Amino acid sequence: MAKSSAVINSIASYLPEKTLTNHDLTKLVDTSDEWIFTRTGIRERRIAADDEFASSMGAKAARKALEQAHLSPLDIDLIIVSTMTPDYLSPSTAALIQRDIGATRAAAVDIGAACSGFVYGLTMVKAFIESSIYSTILLVSTEKNSAFVDYTDRNTCVIFGDGAAACVISRDGHGLRIKTTHLGASGEESDLIQIPAGGCRLPASSTSFDDKLHCLQMNGKELFKHAVRRMEEAINICLKAADVPASSLRWLVPHQANIRIIDALAKRFSIPEDRVAITIDMFANTSSSTIPIALEKLQQTGQIASSDLVLLTAFGGGLTWGATLLEAT
Ligand code: COA
Repeated sequence: MAKSSAVINSIASYLPEKTLTNHDLTKLVDTSDEWIFTRTGIRERRIAADDEFASSMGAKAARKALEQAHLSPLDIDLIIVSTMTPDYLSPSTAALIQRDIGATRAAAVDIGAACSGFVYGLTMVKAFIESSIYSTILLVSTEKNSAFVDYTDRNTCVIFGDGAAACVISRDGHGLRIKTTHLGASGEESDLIQIPAGGCRLPASSTSFDDKLHCLQMNGKELFKHAVRRMEEAINICLKAADVPASSLRWLVPHQANIRIIDALAKRFSIPEDRVAITIDMFANTSSSTIPIALEKLQQTGQIASSDLVLLTAFGGGLTWGATLLEAT
């Protein structure tokens, strides 16, 4: 019997209504639209309302993805949620989404791979489906970064935005087939991007609160150096496993952390600008949600044709990185 494939049957995003522009940020910190746009490619980002959370945004994206796939929540066997901004340390955001959408048959688990979480999630989904452990999986990336960003720190507050996306992935069927995938990590550089307080190492205290240690801290310059190299490495391994040359790629859907990182990466694989999915200008860095949001926006243009090869690549805290090759069926 031929081996089953994992196929992304549907993909949907949820972006909060409120827009925070670069101009708005100039009222909060010493920055300019010119600096932010030329150094990052960002024009604006979405910010979740006070009563919106990782779980509620994820549930909205999930309902849309299920509708598109013509499935009921009861068809879902497993919910995997990627988030670095969960509603709670415990319970998992996946359990909350399972409750909110009524997927009472589904198991539920969160994964923490920061901005690489979607690619990590797809890799786990591929393994679960190809081994026939599960048939239908909901993979959700959802991030309320604004809850962890210090809006007096210009090094971080200009970069991040909020948003969610969800995919229904099933055995075979129509959509984007997961061909090959590769993941990497290096805990040696775990201090380059972190939220220092709130875990068991530095539990919440008035001091941690005063020192803003519950906010995201990042060494952007150092991360930049690792980002291109690590994603390039992952792409090469992923393409080699599929026995596909980079020249066969139709689309590149990279993590949206900085337009200069994306441009450098596309250049290394000679992928022209019009074949790279870009959403950083509108939505900034939504951590693990950037790739599924960009993939959804690309799909909505109607430009992904049957048998197109679509390469996803991610890099983020941990450090973590990865690449996944999809083929349109
Ligand atoms: N507005 C104006 N000036 C700013 C600024 C802002 N928002 N943020 C930093 N600066 C200043 C710095 O203070 C520094 O000033 P100095 O030269 O007087 O010291 C100068 O701009 C350059 O800062 P630097 O940090 O070297 O900028 P950069 O070109 O590296 O850009 C990032 C900063 C964060 C945009 C960039 O490093 C980046 O994107 N890094 C990768 C992020 C990443 O991949 N994260 C992991 C995945 S989420």
